[in-house]
Amino acid sequence: MSKKKYLFVFGTRPEAIKMAPVIRLFKNQPQFDTQVCVTAQHREMLDQVLDFFGIKPDFDLDVMKKGQGLVSLSSAILDGLKEVFQQAKPDAIFVQGDTTTSTIGALAAFYSGIKVYHIEAGLRTLNRFSPYPEEVNRQVTARLADLHFAPTITAKNNLLDEGIEPDKIWVTGNTVIDALLSGIELLEDYSSPEIEQLTSSLNPSKKLILVTGHRRESFGDGFKKICIALKKIAQRSDLQIVYPVHLNPKVQEPVYSILGDVENVLLMEPLGYPEFIWLMQHSYLVLTDSGGIQEEAPSLGKPVLVMRDHTERMEAIEAGTAELVGTNPSLITQSVERLLNNEALYRERSAKKNPFGDGKASMQILEILTGKKV
Ligand code: UD1
Ligand code: UDP
Repeated sequence: MSKKKYLFVFGTRPEAIKMAPVIRLFKNQPQFDTQVCVTAQHREMLDQVLDFFGIKPDFDLDVMKKGQGLVSLSSAILDGLKEVFQQAKPDAIFVQGDTTTSTIGALAAFYSGIKVYHIEAGLRTLNRFSPYPEEVNRQVTARLADLHFAPTITAKNNLLDEGIEPDKIWVTGNTVIDALLSGIELLEDYSSPEIEQLTSSLNPSKKLILVTGHRRESFGDGFKKICIALKKIAQRSDLQIVYPVHLNPKVQEPVYSILGDVENVLLMEPLGYPEFIWLMQHSYLVLTDSGGIQEEAPSLGKPVLVMRDHTERMEAIEAGTAELVGTNPSLITQSVERLLNNEALYRERSAKKNPFGDGKASMQILEILTGKKV
């Protein structure tokens, strides 16, 4: 019998982190022929993850352009994948999450008569513009996918509500926890110039607030308000803010111009995955609009303040590990102050169980495809 051919298609940092544990596992299965295609929707931030996990793509579309728009990005991916599919001839492709790469990858596969397996299926806000364009991306991918690997029961129920057949949906947990646990293990005897540099620039007697942000719906006014809030928070002498700034020029510009010279604020380039985990471990709380960080932080006992108006990760809000604070400077400042000043509240928020998985999601996906999980 010929081997099943699987092609993993991804393009951005979070997709790479969340695909890596699954790719590693599938590459070790002699019954499968497993290949990797990166669109390189991200370049430097993707390569950081590929290097760390030792993934060597079989195909690289290298589509990233500085300040790229959604339409030109989509058409470059759609065109590029047509040729890759003709060469690789996969039985199925895996896509992850809700980026342009995942949705356009799913569309290209559907048009080419190739099956689509969707990892991290079923997340919803039901608001088409928040997050934009991710909410529509993931709804479209659900229409195109043949199998849906939902991280939680809530995600499964969202798919059932949209009429997806129950026997096509599997609840697996989120593969980001698999990646995180392998990163934590590695950090036990790991060092790097970036970690040494951070260790010497950080003051261990000050509480560390870790910040990230990149959502399109916050470009312009939203990012200005976030930076104003951070400037205000940085006036406290008992804390320090560390902010690895996303490479999108629409993020870099406001962040460096408003926070570039502010005392207690350390701006830096995006960090490699182990370095970022190290920073999360050393932080007091995390202020972010990131999806992946909302999922990772509870495993490290770090409360998250989510700088967005809506989240598709309601499990974290319900579990009490995350709080929605939007981009309003006074709401952000008050929520940070509350966690800094109220020890009991902080302890409660940091001692919650992670609702997103136990680190076995990749194995579950493998067992589903080998018929071992029924
Ligand atoms: C993308 C995803 C978003 C995901 C995020 C993770 C879409 C529409 N958006 O948003 O869902 O949460 O990635 O970070 O798919 N850039 C670089 N180098 C890099 C990466 C980005 O210079 O390694 C700059 C480029 O100017 C690029 C811009 O950032 O044009 C935007 O990248 P893009 O992937 O289009 O959007 P993100 O905001 O990163
Ligand atoms: N991350 C990283 N380096 C950084 C910032 C984040 O490796 O400087 C990791 C983080 O641990 C998480 C993922 O990148 O796993 C989140 O990516 P991002 O916030 O860009 O995307 P999202 O999850 O919002 O789609």
